[in-house]
Amino acid sequence: MLKEKLLDYLKTSEDYVSGEKLGEILGVSRSAVWKEIRALRNDGYKIDAVTNRGYKINGVGDVINSSEIKTDCVIGSEVICFDEVVSTNEECKKLGYSGEKEGIVVVADNQTGGKGRLGRAWSSRNGEGVYMSVLLRPDISPARLSSITLCAGLAVCLALREDFGIDALIKWPNDIVVDGRKICGILTEMSGQLQKVDFVVVGIGININTREFPEEISKKASSLYCIAGREFKRSPVAKSVLTRFDSIYSVFAEYGFSAFRSEYEKYCVNTGKRVRIINRSGEFEATAVGVDDDGELIVLKDNGEKTAVFSGEVSVRGVY
Ligand code: BTN
Repeated sequence: MLKEKLLDYLKTSEDYVSGEKLGEILGVSRSAVWKEIRALRNDGYKIDAVTNRGYKINGVGDVINSSEIKTDCVIGSEVICFDEVVSTNEECKKLGYSGEKEGIVVVADNQTGGKGRLGRAWSSRNGEGVYMSVLLRPDISPARLSSITLCAGLAVCLALREDFGIDALIKWPNDIVVDGRKICGILTEMSGQLQKVDFVVVGIGININTREFPEEISKKASSLYCIAGREFKRSPVAKSVLTRFDSIYSVFAEYGFSAFRSEYEKYCVNTGKRVRIINRSGEFEATAVGVDDDGELIVLKDNGEKTAVFSGEVSVRGVY
């Protein structure tokens, strides 16, 4: 696309580039260049235009596009952006069925039917969050799939801590929390047979600039804006998460979740806390002691018995 090529060129140019030169490089007229410059300004790019010198990028607003999000690694090597979709997971699944390669990412400004775990909805207001889904084709059995979600959670946690100074923690298995409130959720879906995974879609929703939440989640949810008291640009957050997820996923693919077990435990809010396990077979309270090599939560029951919890809802005292 002409606009993307022009943007990529301007982003790598340290000095002004004339409309004539840009036209030559891109094989189009100067007026076509001017039209795309206007479109980029509309998207939120600040582009200086100086007579006899040309154009130079001088800042960018809160834009969501492939040029800002794509990475140099496998995850995020290709990024498809939409203004609006029903759900990025649904779009990404279409790519999975049509044979797209591992690492492609779908991002949207707005989701009209964002999906959460256990059939819930994911509040996805326009421009307020990162809503993205990653297509993976792991060579693992479906039984080991849940630990991919844990890897994605660790990637979000580390990205927010290290690149954005947010004291993010993980609520097992897949929520990212700050001060006991949820700021990110992850929904992993797969297609395959009993023994073989065809593809996996890891959907990540991060609340970025949301100032107020719907009544029913207002006590449980938070956003980077609510935590830090300032706005964040969404694309750098998305890119940072994808880059970290790539390095974690490549180690996971070779060595399994055990490679990240101690790092995950370090940031897991459940460790050492009383937890209430709610699953298909009922409810019980126990003390969480950590996670095992497959990413299952190990809990110590009040009768002294240790058991691994691998699915269902876990509620942690003090955290929503
Ligand atoms: C949860 O319930 O905690 C999981 C929420 C996952 C939300 C993300 S937003 C991007 C992707 N598309 C969806 O429809 N859901 C996931």
